[in-house]
Amino acid sequence: MKKVYLDHASTTPVDTEVINAMTPYTDKIYGNASSIHDYGVEAADAIEEARGKIAKSIGARPEEIVFTAGGSESDNLAIKGISYRNKKRKKTKGPHVITSAIEHPAVLETCKYLEKQGFAVAYIPVDKDGLLDPQDVHDAITKDTILITIMYANNEIGTIEPIAEIGNIAHDHNVLFHTDAVQAIGKVPIDVKKEHVDLLSISSHKIYGPKGVGALYIKKGVKLDPIIHGGGHENGVRSGTYNTPGIVGLGKACELGTQRMSVDGAHMTKLRDRLISEILNVEESYLNGHPKKRLANNAHFRFTAIEGESLNLLLNEQGIAAATGSACSSKKLEASHVLLALGLEPAQAHGSLRFSLGRTTTDDDISYVIDVVPKVVAALRQMSPLWNR
Ligand SMILES: Cc1ncc(COP(=O)(O)O)c(C=O)c1O
Repeated sequence: MKKVYLDHASTTPVDTEVINAMTPYTDKIYGNASSIHDYGVEAADAIEEARGKIAKSIGARPEEIVFTAGGSESDNLAIKGISYRNKKRKKTKGPHVITSAIEHPAVLETCKYLEKQGFAVAYIPVDKDGLLDPQDVHDAITKDTILITIMYANNEIGTIEPIAEIGNIAHDHNVLFHTDAVQAIGKVPIDVKKEHVDLLSISSHKIYGPKGVGALYIKKGVKLDPIIHGGGHENGVRSGTYNTPGIVGLGKACELGTQRMSVDGAHMTKLRDRLISEILNVEESYLNGHPKKRLANNAHFRFTAIEGESLNLLLNEQGIAAATGSACSSKKLEASHVLLALGLEPAQAHGSLRFSLGRTTTDDDISYVIDVVPKVVAALRQMSPLWNR
């Protein structure tokens, strides 16, 4: 049976060039990067080289990159670290954080946790395409606002947010600005200086790097409290023995992501647009997310009168891997908070499915999906009491 993996927003295969870069650091150059002997120094040199590559890919300086164990930790470190550090700075009504209604749980749950500790959080709504209005962010700023955290691009519907405009607003109001760029890295050109970003989260496994490693860009001069205490690695910001192979892999993945961005982007956009135009020929099917301001690899549909979950299971039986719900926690059965935030009814949200393409997706893969999806949708509708055509 043909197998087609269209779940790259959930995770990607590790690129062969990344594996080749990492391999020596598993069994040959295995020293602890904090040790002073040659084994350690070689590992430390590789880590610094990777730091430089990651920094370059977002227009930062190497000393502004801190390594973490992934996107979730980067988000936690940015939000808790800044909030705890500035807890007492503004005192009128207690510290205030601004975020959006469609963030990944790594951001939303962290904000909810802060609320329990006395922080106030404003959740900015989005329009029907998932786009946030920068004016709403502007209007939400109070004297107590210490942090704005808005994702660069949404993991479910692929909508790309107006980050530079939000960065300008944050900068003008002297408020720190964090963006979760986990889905945007390698797909959208990012320049943290031009976009006035103070903190930015990166995850390796979404960009053809290994799982369990990430980075947080922290603009020079921005101070935050650590959330992991220990041996004082990364200037005390993030303790823990360096994951040398993982970090080397992340560095290589960022370098490749920048080099291949325009070629991969054009390739995926072409395939995605073909997928979208063909699938929308299915009766009562709709595109979720912004028609233009969306990631090159994202096609998110909803189909009247069927369950996305059932569609996903039946497509899996035909060798097609897609996703419902959020990239990381698709085992949840509640309607997606992102789709509800677009104004969809729970039934519409439940009737949705995401296809996320990758750099190795082929024309043949898309042809197969275009052939199979309408048949499976029709079969499910035949069984659906809600479909009485
Ligand atoms: C937008 C976004 N942020 C954060 C994360 C979490 O990253 P990680 O899996 O590296 O913890 C994900 C993963 O799906 C994501 O899509």
